[in-house]
Amino acid sequence: MRAYFWVFWLWVVATACQPLVNKKNYRIGFSQCTGGDNWRQVMLHDMQRQLAIHPNWQLLYKDASNSTTAQIKQIKELTKQGIDLLIVSPNESSPALTLAIEAVFKQGIPVILLDRKIPSESYTTFIGANNLEIGRMVGDYLPSLLPKGGNIVEVWGLASSSPAQERHRGLHEELSKYPHLHVIKELYGQWEKDTASHLAQANLDVLRKAQVVFAHNDIMAESIRAICQKENIRPLPYFVGIDGLPGPKGGLQKIQDGILKATFLYPTGGEEAIEVAAQVLAGKATQREYLLNSIRIDQSNLRVVKAQSDKLLQQQQDIEKLNQQINYLAKTYSSQKEAFYLILACLILSVLLGGWAVYLLRTKQAANRQLALQNQQISEQKSKIEEVSEKARQATEEKLRFYSYISHEFRTPLSLILTPVEDLLAQKAISQKELKTGLTYVQKNAHRLLHLVDQLLDLRKTDAGKQTLHASEHDLVAWLREIVSNFLPKAIKLKIDLQLLGPTQPVLVWFDAEKLDKVVFNLLSNAFKYTPQGGRIHVILTETTSQITLAISDNGEGMTEVEKQHAFDLFFSGLSRFSLGTGVGLALTREFVNLHHGDIVVESTKHQGTTFTITLPKGDAHLGLDEKNKYPELPLPVLPAIFDDLDTVTSASIPISSPSNTSVVLIEDNLDLSHYIITKLTPLFTIQGFSTGEAGWQGVLSVVPDIIICDVMLPDTNGYALTERIKEDFRTSHIPIVMLTAKSQTDAQIEGIRAGADVYITKPFNTTYLIETLKTLCTNRAKIQRRFSSEYVFVNENKAEKRFLNELTARIEARIIDPDFGVEALSNDMGMSRVQLYRKTQALLQMNVSDYITEIRLNKAKSLLRSAELSIAEVAFAAGFKSAAYFTTLFRQKLNQTPSEYRKEMTK
Ligand code: FRU
Repeated sequence: MRAYFWVFWLWVVATACQPLVNKKNYRIGFSQCTGGDNWRQVMLHDMQRQLAIHPNWQLLYKDASNSTTAQIKQIKELTKQGIDLLIVSPNESSPALTLAIEAVFKQGIPVILLDRKIPSESYTTFIGANNLEIGRMVGDYLPSLLPKGGNIVEVWGLASSSPAQERHRGLHEELSKYPHLHVIKELYGQWEKDTASHLAQANLDVLRKAQVVFAHNDIMAESIRAICQKENIRPLPYFVGIDGLPGPKGGLQKIQDGILKATFLYPTGGEEAIEVAAQVLAGKATQREYLLNSIRIDQSNLRVVKAQSDKLLQQQQDIEKLNQQINYLAKTYSSQKEAFYLILACLILSVLLGGWAVYLLRTKQAANRQLALQNQQISEQKSKIEEVSEKARQATEEKLRFYSYISHEFRTPLSLILTPVEDLLAQKAISQKELKTGLTYVQKNAHRLLHLVDQLLDLRKTDAGKQTLHASEHDLVAWLREIVSNFLPKAIKLKIDLQLLGPTQPVLVWFDAEKLDKVVFNLLSNAFKYTPQGGRIHVILTETTSQITLAISDNGEGMTEVEKQHAFDLFFSGLSRFSLGTGVGLALTREFVNLHHGDIVVESTKHQGTTFTITLPKGDAHLGLDEKNKYPELPLPVLPAIFDDLDTVTSASIPISSPSNTSVVLIEDNLDLSHYIITKLTPLFTIQGFSTGEAGWQGVLSVVPDIIICDVMLPDTNGYALTERIKEDFRTSHIPIVMLTAKSQTDAQIEGIRAGADVYITKPFNTTYLIETLKTLCTNRAKIQRRFSSEYVFVNENKAEKRFLNELTARIEARIIDPDFGVEALSNDMGMSRVQLYRKTQALLQMNVSDYITEIRLNKAKSLLRSAELSIAEVAFAAGFKSAAYFTTLFRQKLNQTPSEYRKEMTK
C-alpha cells in the first residue's frame, strides 16, 4: 500500500518537472550599435515579439549609441555576465570591434551578426538585407527619374559601416551604365538626420544643382529635403531613401505625403535573428548567411505595399495581443500550476498526516486493547487474590471461632468442677448429701472433659490424616439394637417414637465398631437434641447385595438450606448444631464414614425434619490389610459420659418457690450448670431456668423477673442479641442482666456490657460472688425505685425506663377525665399484659398501677384546686373521680386536709 503511494508521488513530481527540464533558460546578449532611431526600435520590437515564444529566455540588451568604443566595452560586459549567444549589430567594420566580436566567438559563444558585417569569419551566421543589391536597385531606378540626364547628390551612412559601403558600391556599379547621370557630390551623413541637416545647410549650392538626392536612409533624405525646402531651393530635387518603414513617421508615409520620391525596403531582421538563435541553441544546422529581400516603393506600388505593410502591422499587433494573452495565460497557468502544486502538496501532506494519524490511532487502539487486556488480567488476578484471601480470612475466622468455641466448651465443665469444689471447701460442715451431689458434678464433668479431649484428639488425628480403620466383621443389626436401646429411656421420657427398622436377622458388615459407634451416637444425640417431645426418631437399616444403608431420620427442627450445605464443614459458623459436647461433630462423622469407604448424605427441610443416610460397602474386598482389625472381637457401644446431659428437658422449668419474693430468670443451655445454679440460688430467690434464647425471652416476658442471668452461647441465639432485645423492649428494659459466660476475653465482656448487660461474670465463677452480685443489683434497683416514685417527670439515667414512665404518665393524663379508666384500659394502651404492667410499675415505682392512677388523679385535682375557677364537684369530675364525696374522702386520707382547705391554703 505504502509502496504504491510513493510510486504515485514520484510520477506526479516527474510529470510536474518535465517542461522545466526541456525548456532551458538561455541568456541572449544583444549588442546594438544605436537604439535612437525608429528603424532600430522596430528591430528590437521585432525581436521581442519573437522572444515571446521563448518565455524562459532572457535578453540582455546594450545600446552603444553609435559609439564603437562603447560597443566593444558592452560586448565584454555581456560576455562576463554569462551569455549563451551574442547577437551583435556592429557600429562599424573597425578592427577593434572585429577583435572584440571574434573573442566572443572564440570562447565558444555563438555570434549572430545582424544588419552590418565585420571583416572576419569568426561569427556563426549573418542576417540582413543585401545592401549591394539594394544599391544596384537604386542605381537602376534613378535613370528613370532623370531620363535626360542630371545631377545626383549621394548622402552616405557611416562610411566605415558595411551597409553604407555596399550601397555605395551597388549604386555606382549601375550608374556607370548611364554616363549622362552624374553624382556631383558625396556627403557623409553617418545615418543621422542631424548630421545630414548640417551637411545640407553647408552644401546648398550643390543641392541647388542637383535633380536627385539619394540618401542611404529615409531619415537623412527627409532632413535634407526639409533644409532644401526651407532654403527655397527650386525646383526641389527628387529625394530617394532606404528603409521603407511603416507607420506615421516611416518611409511609406513619406512616399504617400510626396516627401520622398521612392524608398527601398530594408528589413530589420530582428525576428529572424531570434529564430536563427533558437536553431543555433538547439544545436541545429544554420546557414552562414540569411539575406533578406528588398523592393522599391514609390507611388506606383505604394498602395499595395502599404496595404500589405498595414496588414502585417495588424497581424503583428494581433500576434502581440495573442502573446499578451499567452503571457497572461502562461502566468495564470503558472500561478494555477503553483496553486495546484501547493494543493497537491497539501493534499499529500494531509494524506500523509491522515495516514500517520490513522497509524497513531491504530497504535493507540492496539495499546488500549493491550491495556484493557492487562487490566482485565490484573482485575481477574486481583479478584482471585481477593477470593483466596477472603477464603483464608474466613478460614482463619472459622478456626478462631472454633478455638474460642472449644475453650468455651472446656470452661463449662471446668465451672461445674471448680464451683462445687469451692462451695464445698467454703462450708464448715458438709452434709453427706451435699458432698455426694458436689462430687457427682465433679465426676460427671471430669468425664466430660475427658471426652472432649478424646474428641479433640480424634479431630487432630483426622486433620493430620492419621486416623486408621480397624474393621472387623460383626452383626450390624445386633450392634445397632444395643445402641438404640441405650437411648430408649430418654425416648420414653420425652415421648419420642424411637425405632430401629429393617432386617431382624443378622447382617454381617465389616466395620470399626469404635468409630461407627461415635458416628451413630452423634447422629442420634443430634436427633434427640432437635426433636421436640412426642416427635419421631427412626433408625432404618436396608441392604442390597453390595451395600448396606443406614438412615437416621427425625421429624424435628430441620435445617435451612445453608445449614444443610455446610452440615459437614468443620468450621462453619452458621450451623448451631455443631457441638463437641454432644459427641463428635458432623465433620468427624463424615471422616469416620469415609474411612469405612462409605458415604454420608443429609436430607433436611426446616421445621420438617432431618435424615442422615450412611452407605457402607458389604464384604471386605474394599478393605486393605492394614484396615482390618488383627484381633476381631465384638465391641460394645461406648456411651459417652455426657450422655446424661441429654436427660434433661429443654423447655422452661417450673419455678422453684423460695421464701424470697425476688424473682430470677436463668437462661443457660448447659443443663448441669443450670441445675447447679438453681440449686444454689433457690434458698434466696424465686428462680426459673430456660435452656434456649427463645424460651428465655418468653420466660422473661411472662415472669418479668427482678433479675436475669444469661449465658452468652446459646443454641439458637447469643446472649448479646438476647440482652439487646430485653433492653430495647420497654416491658423488660428495667430488668438488670447478669451475663454469665465461659467467654473471658475482655472484648467479649465489652460486647456484653455494650449490649446492655449490667454485670459480666466469667466461668468458672464463685457462687458466693454470684449471689452477692444479685443482692447488690436488687438493692440498687430499690434505690432507683424510690427515686422514681417520688417524681413524675423522670430524668433518670436509664433512657428506656424514663421513656416507659413518661409514656405511662402521659397515657393516664390523656384519659384522666374518664372515671372508668383503670388498669385494664391502661395495659391495653401500653400494649402490655396486666401482669407485665403490674410488675414493671411495681419494679420501677414500688406501687401498683391503680395506686399510680389515683396519684395522678389527685395531682390533677390539686392543680385544678389551685386555679380556683372550678367548684370542688367540678374538680372531682375533671380529675376522673366518680363522686365529689369519694374525692373528698380520698383527698383527706392522702393529704390530711379537705380539698377546700387545700384550696384556701394555696390561694392565700
Ligand atoms: C539605422 C540605419 C538604417 C540603415 C541601417 C544601415 O540605424 O541607419 O537607416 O538602413 O542603419 O545599417
